[in-house]
Amino acid sequence: MSAVMIDGKAFAARVRGQVAVHVARLVADHGIQPGLAVVLVGSDPASEVYVKSKGRMTREVGMISVEHRLEADTSEADLLALIADLNADPTIHGILVQLPLPGHLNSELVINSIDPAKDVDGFHISNVGLLGTGQKAMVPCTPLGCLMMLRDHLGDLSGLNAVVVGRSNIVGKPMAQLLLGDSCTVTIAHSRTRDLASVCRGADILVAAVGRAQMITGDFVKPGATVIDVGINRIEVDGKTKLVGDVDFESCADVAGAITPVPGGVGPMTIACLLANTVTACCRANG
Ligand code: GUN
Repeated sequence: MSAVMIDGKAFAARVRGQVAVHVARLVADHGIQPGLAVVLVGSDPASEVYVKSKGRMTREVGMISVEHRLEADTSEADLLALIADLNADPTIHGILVQLPLPGHLNSELVINSIDPAKDVDGFHISNVGLLGTGQKAMVPCTPLGCLMMLRDHLGDLSGLNAVVVGRSNIVGKPMAQLLLGDSCTVTIAHSRTRDLASVCRGADILVAAVGRAQMITGDFVKPGATVIDVGINRIEVDGKTKLVGDVDFESCADVAGAITPVPGGVGPMTIACLLANTVTACCRANG
């Protein structure tokens, strides 16, 4: 391995430390404690893990964490009523509805019922539009965390070739918008892209967000490139479950200039950015 390892875990701990300082100041100077509400419908095991760790870290930085756990067969009307209550609650500054939702619920309708000012995920159509037009938006946490790591490692991103592999609304598209905002030349590649390896080899910045275990191998990577791995995939190795990214770490680390590991790369940054977004929402709500 010749690449520098970008330590998302340590970076995220620093970000959470800064968030905690902001929170302490809001409490001491203004008597305001930021509050984050997380809504989980059903009991998807991966979602349970995320929600638990979000709650713990929210409390650790001194914010109020409120969890609403609803039955898997909750009606859309009941979920919308809960969101309306949270929208109207002045002690709640951020609302996150954990995805995926059970199939009978319309995710777009539910997300767009959140007050855009409290939409700390940045998924509401208003925030998507604001980000796309370069205006002040709530920015989705995972791409924001990736951008912070890229800026920290590379400094000015202006003029660099960035390839984002994956076109999801949660990661791929907002990631491309953020990189464009930093004056990168951006390509969005995906499962239908012809000769994906050669497209990726043009990248100074390669962001993998496809959801396919270890799909990006060393021959996709330009020597010295910065590789950001957004994937979280569980695979079986020798009868044991192992967590791997969308990037084949071993082969890519031999070619890249810098690379994020899985676990310990993008994942911890996502939650740190969620907490930072909640403080931002709280500050905007209180002028
Ligand atoms: N499920 C997986 N990632 C996310 C995320 O960033 N936000 C929400 N709300 N649900 C998710």
